[in-house]
Amino acid sequence: SKMSNIVDFYKDRTLFITGVTGFMGKVLLEKLLRSCPGLKKVYLLMRPKKGHDIRTRLNQLIESKLFDDIRENMLNVHEKVIPVAGDIMEPKLGLSEEEEKILIEEVSIVFHSAATVRFDEPLKMSVQLNIIGVNRILDLCKKMQHLDALIHISTAYANCDRHLISEKIYQPPITASKIVSAMEWMDDEVVQALTPKIIQPRPNTYTFTKAIAEHLIAEKSENLPVAIVRPSIVGASWQEPLQGWVDNFNGPSGLLVAIGKGILRVMMGNNSACADLVPVDMAVNLIIASAWSTATYGHNGLQIFNCTTGLQNRLTWGQIEKASMDCFSRNPVDVPVRLPNPKFTLNRTYYLLQRWFDHFLPAWFMDIGLKLCGQKPILMRLQRRLWKSVSCMEFFTSHEWKFEDDNVRKLYANMSERDQKDFNFDVKQIHWPTYLENYCLGVKRFVLKEDMKNLLKARKAFYRLVGWLAGWLAGWLIG
Ligand SMILES: *[C@@H]1O[C@H](CO)[C@@H](O)[C@H](O)[C@H]1NC(C)=O
Ligand SMILES: *[C@@H]1O[C@H](CO)[C@@H](O)[C@H](O)[C@H]1NC(C)=O
Ligand SMILES: *[C@@H]1O[C@H](CO)[C@@H](O)[C@H](O)[C@H]1NC(C)=O
Ligand SMILES: *[C@@H]1O[C@H](CO)[C@@H](O)[C@H](O)[C@H]1NC(C)=O
Repeated sequence: SKMSNIVDFYKDRTLFITGVTGFMGKVLLEKLLRSCPGLKKVYLLMRPKKGHDIRTRLNQLIESKLFDDIRENMLNVHEKVIPVAGDIMEPKLGLSEEEEKILIEEVSIVFHSAATVRFDEPLKMSVQLNIIGVNRILDLCKKMQHLDALIHISTAYANCDRHLISEKIYQPPITASKIVSAMEWMDDEVVQALTPKIIQPRPNTYTFTKAIAEHLIAEKSENLPVAIVRPSIVGASWQEPLQGWVDNFNGPSGLLVAIGKGILRVMMGNNSACADLVPVDMAVNLIIASAWSTATYGHNGLQIFNCTTGLQNRLTWGQIEKASMDCFSRNPVDVPVRLPNPKFTLNRTYYLLQRWFDHFLPAWFMDIGLKLCGQKPILMRLQRRLWKSVSCMEFFTSHEWKFEDDNVRKLYANMSERDQKDFNFDVKQIHWPTYLENYCLGVKRFVLKEDMKNLLKARKAFYRLVGWLAGWLAGWLIG
């Protein structure tokens, strides 16, 4: 039990990872490099973007705060980590022939985490990335000579049309080939008009395409050693490499930013419903361990791991509401627009009234203040953007699901004591109040690097306007 089977397993292996610039992809790469020093090589599928070649993009990633430890302790990181130019949107992943040959000959573990996680991605794009992309990965994996595990990252909400979700594949709403051919003959406008009809009862294109992709894998993987990991709502890190590390505005992080800034004060949601949040480092540990388990035990085909917390360690939206308000009151963000005072409600009338009178109206007044002071009005624009993303999340804050996680618990039980410690995903160990406190502080520290000077101006302008009006009124009354 003093041995690490997982570290041994990764020794001298060559990996291929997609989606490494995403939130989970980064943390996965960092953890593998830090905890599995015996790794031989890691190939990363990267898309050249806006004039930055892939080397530059990789350097930016390695230079980021997340990789502090790696930069300090791992001198040969650039020999181990090798970017390959490609794109899951292109046939054969856009790989050159030589690169494909290298991957086929050398790689034994594949982590496929590239996907669009935008809830409101246009359906055509979502199908391209989340379904056709998976097909291309499967084609590549079938050619690989020593493949021991392919880990596909899905989402626990792929089947959110159901209430109880077990660790198995469900019938998709429509098969992959049908939706792909439909996307081929329909033009963009038709697709856009029909999207809500096509995806119903699912709330967004993300969960719709992810469900179809899972089924596609079940159908096409044949004898491949495949596992699917389904994380629920992925939040900031619990312990590794930094407590509360997060780098984006997606999902709950965006909510916390908006709550901290005081621009989000009401939202549709059920306070006693489960908020199935899973820390990114635990999700990543499970992903790493699932490759080991898949290669070691075989599992006769496809194994699914629900990476969730609801059944073992329940957290509610009400707890998040309270914790975020407490934390941001004690540790205010630098330039709050208003005092944090978040509220989840199931009363739509109340919600709509609050939204108009407590959000749009003050923002509108502050913008007038800004304009009068010769500044650019920004608050109404901010509010409109906020409501767009908030309404995407409503479905998830208002409902509750039961995700089963027997496979995950079995996997954990199979691990040596040392591995359980080094690759911990025992969600019972999370103390939610501490985690949420660290999450809020992480949002302040890592996400809000305070490019909020405009808001400071906004508040000053607002007070100046109020002062000016009051003075004018007083003068008028006295006069
Ligand atoms: C809110 O969630 C709780 C816990 O799941 C549930 O019992 C209750 O029915 C929900 N309320 C509504 C109005 O859906
Ligand atoms: C919903 O909110 C409105 C406005 O605040 C209130 O008048 C109404 O009684 C509430 N409805 C319920 C069911 O609580
Ligand atoms: C995962 O699936 C198992 C059934 O295999 C189930 O018992 C468990 O509740 C699920 N958990 C989550 C969080 O999805
Ligand atoms: C756990 O180990 C047993 C063999 O001891 C194996 O059959 C099973 O598939 C393993 N399960 C997981 C999830 O690793």
